[in-house]
Order: sequence, then structure tokens, then C-alpha cells
Amino acid sequence: MLVIFAILFALMHVAALILAPVLVGSAIDYIVAYNDVNLTRVLNYCIYLLITIIIAAVTSYLSTFLSTKLAQTIAKNIRIDTLAAINCAPIYKIDSLSKGELSQRLTTDCERIAEGIASTITQIFTFIALVIGTLIFMFRLNITMALVVALLTPLSIIAAVLIAKFSHKMLVRQTANEGAAAALGEEFINLSKTVKLYNYEEAAEDRLKKHTARIKDSGQKAVFSASLTAPTSRFINGLIFACVAVVGAYLVLGDSDFSIGMLSIFLAFAMQYARPFNEITNAMSEIQGSIVSAKRVFSINSECKMHDAQLRHADQNSNLEARLKGDIEFKNIDFGYDDNALVIKNFCLSIKAGQSVAIVGKTGSGKTTLINLLLKFYSANNGEILIDGTNIDSIDKQLLRQNIGLILQDSWVFKGSIFDNIAFSKHGTVTLEEVITAAKKAHLHDFISSLKHGYDTIIDTNTLSKGQMQLLSLARIFLTTPPIIILDEATSSLDARTDYLVQDALKNITKGHTSIIVAHRLSTIKGADLIVVLENGSLIEQGTHDELIAKQGSYCTLIKHS
Ligand SMILES: Nc1ncnc2c1ncn2[C@@H]1O[C@H](COP(=O)(O)OP(=O)(O)O)[C@@H](O)[C@H]1O
Ligand SMILES: [Mg+2]
Repeated sequence: MLVIFAILFALMHVAALILAPVLVGSAIDYIVAYNDVNLTRVLNYCIYLLITIIIAAVTSYLSTFLSTKLAQTIAKNIRIDTLAAINCAPIYKIDSLSKGELSQRLTTDCERIAEGIASTITQIFTFIALVIGTLIFMFRLNITMALVVALLTPLSIIAAVLIAKFSHKMLVRQTANEGAAAALGEEFINLSKTVKLYNYEEAAEDRLKKHTARIKDSGQKAVFSASLTAPTSRFINGLIFACVAVVGAYLVLGDSDFSIGMLSIFLAFAMQYARPFNEITNAMSEIQGSIVSAKRVFSINSECKMHDAQLRHADQNSNLEARLKGDIEFKNIDFGYDDNALVIKNFCLSIKAGQSVAIVGKTGSGKTTLINLLLKFYSANNGEILIDGTNIDSIDKQLLRQNIGLILQDSWVFKGSIFDNIAFSKHGTVTLEEVITAAKKAHLHDFISSLKHGYDTIIDTNTLSKGQMQLLSLARIFLTTPPIIILDEATSSLDARTDYLVQDALKNITKGHTSIIVAHRLSTIKGADLIVVLENGSLIEQGTHDELIAKQGSYCTLIKHS
């Protein structure tokens, strides 16, 4: 609807633009010579002219207003779509992009697409209508003159296209450089403590300077080449204007019925006819910018849709209960993040529902990778993972993740009340009692009660200590008690007392739940029903703590160093 009105007003604007010079020309023809002026006619034409000019102004305003509104609506929708796409994009895609890059795609790129659309709608329509309308009028008035105008003007387009090609290249470079600098800036901001700690400020500044210098360079070139178009086409238009004046003067002086009024119409048309060409060249650079941005944005969207389609296909044949039992079986799993290096090699492991399994191994041995596979963040090259006897490929990813409670080394909170931060894990309504029970089990209730606002205290990442955030993650899990619980180095960075609290809370939570625990501390590993030793992606030992100690193998070596 908006589009139709925007176009309609643009067309009215064009009609008014074409009519104005015709009115002026007609008025001139009533001014034949000194003392031979038909004043009433001339005045009439002046009034028509005034009305036409007002219509031109109002319709121009309206069409611009509507198309801007339309563009902003579209930008909003693209942004929502892209955010949704990022949310369901495969993890490997997200891993391959930096956060700064992603947020640039959400902000600057979406903005550029909107600008491009706004330019396209008004300018292209005005352009086409104005060119066609002016052509028709000119040919009806005088064919010779019409040919002069129509044949010469495209010269400015050719120049514009050549310049636009160059500036497109520069724009691609500029946008890429901007993304890279945003990513770097974001990295430094996130790591600000580390940067200061290692006295890395100067080096960081240098790197940023290099990036910004590159932006400046490519930006300068892009803007300069884009700004060449206007003066170039204006110069060519000046030449055309002169040609029209000369040919027109000959015609007026000759014996044909070409009047001075008509010459004035043609001179106005020559200007007017050229104007859309100028505008379109300006619009072209904006549109090009938006095409570059659109490609960047839609590459995420399309990849996500593919991924989603694959998953949906897989999800159709799952007929599992909403709550899984928790039997897990890895069968001959091979996996590599890229094709040439396997990170997991022929890994087999069978975990019964309710069992607790500890995975130990050196850094980089593939522990986190196994968990990534189990959560369907990545899929294995060979072999299969079964949960309750069903291949996870055919388990709905939402169902799967609802049934798994995951605690990582770095826990997170969002800005909001403590209540909301805990209740977050459970869908539907959650009562305060439930949250308090969960917090008690996680040994967090006393701390929360000591706060002035209790469960309504607003927290963010910087307000809680690491240990408190980790306990809060535990509380989340106590609230939903999923059948499968995974801890990936969850306690590695905690102090002894918090570690003790977490261990104690864990004892409760792992009872009756399948649990997979990746840890270095002996105290965490010792009690597990099964301990698995991983080396370079292969399982090299498994058994209980006592069995493995008796074996005097890799496990003992690992333990000695922990
Ligand atoms: N997103 C990733 N892309 C490419 N390689 C990765 C990625 N994540 C981990 N790796 C590589 O996979 C190997 C195993 O990593 P990981 O499973 O995280 O080890 P662990 O958790 O045992 O310390 C390492 O060599 C690591 O460099
Ligand atoms: Mg790890």
C-alpha cells in the first residue's frame, strides 16, 4: 500500500515537472513584442504555473516521506529476520564470524539496505517517468530538437556507469575494512583487562590505527569516485544545453514555425531530461552500497535456512517422549572442524541413564568437542550418537537441548533480576517458591537473602563473582532438572570454598541424572561411576578411579599433575 502511494505521488510529481516548462513556454509566446503582450493570458499561465509548482513540491515531499517510511519498515524486518537467522544459524557459521562483524551486519548493513531501497523506489520511478514523459512531449513539439536532446544526454550515463563500476569495487573494500575494524575494536573492549595487564595498549592502538588507516584510504577512494559522477555528468549536460540553444536558435531564425516559447520549453526540457540522469548516478552509488550490504546480510540468512531445512527434515522421524531417559551411546565417532584434521577419532562410549561419567584429558584432546557433538552444534563425519537408542540426527534439536543442562567454565547472566536470571531456564510460569528451592539446592539462597532487594536485585555480568555466577547456573539446572547434565570445566576457575559448595550441590543434582563431567580436579572426578581418558581425540583408558589407579597408566600420570 505504501509503495503504491509512494509511486503515485512520484508520478504526480513528474507530471507537474513536465507541465511547468510547457506553461512557461506558452506564456512566453503571448509576449510577442514590446507593447504586444496579452497580459490576461500571461497572468493566467502564471497562476497555473504557481499551482503546478506547489503540486510538484507537495508530491515530492509526500513520495519521499512514504518511501523513507517504507524503507525503515523493510530495514526493521530485515533486522528481525537477520537476528532470527543468527539465532538459528549453525554454530560453525557463528564461530567463523566475529561478534563485531555480526553486529555490523545487524546495524550498518541493514541501514544501508534501507537507504538503497528508499533511493530505488523514489528515484528510479521518478527517473523512468520523467525520461519517458519528457521524450513524448519533446517529440510531439519538434522532432529535430527532440533528437538533439535525446541522443546527446545518454553520454552522461556512459560516464556515470564507468565511474560507478570503479566506486563499487572501492565500496566493497570499505565495507569489509569497516567490519574488520569493528571486530578488532570489540575484541579489545572485551579483553580490556588483558590488554592493560600485558601493557598491550600501544600495540593495540597501533593495530587499530592500521585498520582505521585502511578504512580511511578505501573510504576516501569510494567517496571520491562516487563524487566524481555528479560534476562529470553536469559538465556533459552543460555541453548538451549549449547544443540545444544553438540548434534551437537556428530553427527560430529559419522559417519553420518553431517559436521562442518552444525554444524555452526545450531548454527547460534539456535541463530536466538530464536531471534524472544526474540523480540516478547519485542513487546508483547508494544502491551499490546497499547491494554490498545485502549480500553480507543475506549470506547469513540463506545459510541458516539451509541448516534449518536439513534439521527439519531430520526432525520428522523422531517419536521420542518429551523427557528423555538419558542413555547415551557414542558409536565410532570421527569428527574434524575442517576436512584435513580429525579431532575425534573412532570414539566409542556407552553411558547408561543415571550414570555419572568423567572425561579427562589434556587441553585440546577433544573433550569440549565431544560435548559440541552431543548438543548437535556440529555433526560427526562418521559414526553415530544415540540417545535412548535414537540417532540424535533424528531428534528435534529443541527437544534435545531441553533435556540437557549445560554448565560451562564461563557462566553468564543477563541484566535483570536474580529471579528472572534463574527462572529463565524454565518455560512457562515459574513461582518464587520454585526459584527459592532451586537457589537453596545451589547453596545460593543465603547470599541472595543477604541482599537488600533479595531475589529482585538487578544483576549483570559485573555484579557477581565467578563462583556466584556458577552457582546461579546450577540453580537454573535445579529448576528444570533435565535428565542429562553436562559440566565442562565448570569448577576449574573457582576458589576452594566455592568449589566445595559446587561439588556438594553437584552430588545432589547428579543423583538419578546422567551426567558428563569434564574436570581436572581429582575431587570432582573421583566419585564418577566411569572415568574416560581422552588423548588426541581417542579413548585410551576407561574404568572407575580405583581400577585406573591400579592400572598405573595415563590416568595416573594425569592425576599426578593435577
Ligand atoms: N571451533 C573450532 N574450530 C576449529 N578447531 C577447533 C574449534 N574448537 C576446537 N578446535 C580444535 O579442536 C581440538 C580439540 O579442542 P577441544 O575439544 O576444545 O579440547 P578440550 O576441550 O579437550 O581442551 C583442539 O586442537 C582445538 O584447537
Ligand atoms: Mg574444553
